[in-house]
Amino acid sequence: MLSVVVLISGGGSNLRALLEAAEHPDFPARVVAIGADRDAEGFDHAADFGIPTFAVALSSFADRAAWGDALLEQILVWDPDLVVLSGFMKLLPERVVERLGPRLINTHPAYLPEFPGAHGVRDALAAGVEQTGASVIVVDAGVDTGPILAQERIPVLPEDTEATLHDRIKLVERRLLIETVAAIATGTIDLGAFGPDSPDTDSPDTEELSPA
Ligand code: GRF
Repeated sequence: MLSVVVLISGGGSNLRALLEAAEHPDFPARVVAIGADRDAEGFDHAADFGIPTFAVALSSFADRAAWGDALLEQILVWDPDLVVLSGFMKLLPERVVERLGPRLINTHPAYLPEFPGAHGVRDALAAGVEQTGASVIVVDAGVDTGPILAQERIPVLPEDTEATLHDRIKLVERRLLIETVAAIATGTIDLGAFGPDSPDTDSPDTEELSPA
């Protein structure tokens, strides 16, 4: 059973969908704790499901590095197999990404690499595109630049506002998140392939070199 810590900043509707999926006895992952960078509204979902929470506010620390270290310490208490950023609106310090990666994933409300950053939905609308999307990625040191694990296109409708488009995107984002967590748990997705010890893709194909 894959143990998961989820980090949120806001309402946590995607988190709730994951919690509901994880209630099913056949779901291969469990959320063991929920963290946030503030007293997030989404903690209400944690209470509904009886899941422990922790909040580590950036403003309580002298600098981002100290905040990141404190957040990491709280995460590691749970010894998770996977950490999910689900609407977590702060950039994690590189040290935290290095320690948790590649078992650290993020959902994003756009079809990456299109529209990275905190305003993916607003930026897609402003660009006047006919379709945007949702993505689940492995977190790396950049802003929404990590390897893409799952993504899907979503049409932008002429009458869309940022809120209506985001609501439609989130429906897809939730499904992709749940499917991705399940795929990681069952080994269909091997996050080890994205780690520092992953085989060098430039090296010769060992199968080709091995004797027949
Ligand atoms: C999601 O679209 C996430 O990708 C974005 O913020 C939204 C989180 O929504 N960064 P919620 O808190 O799960 O409702």
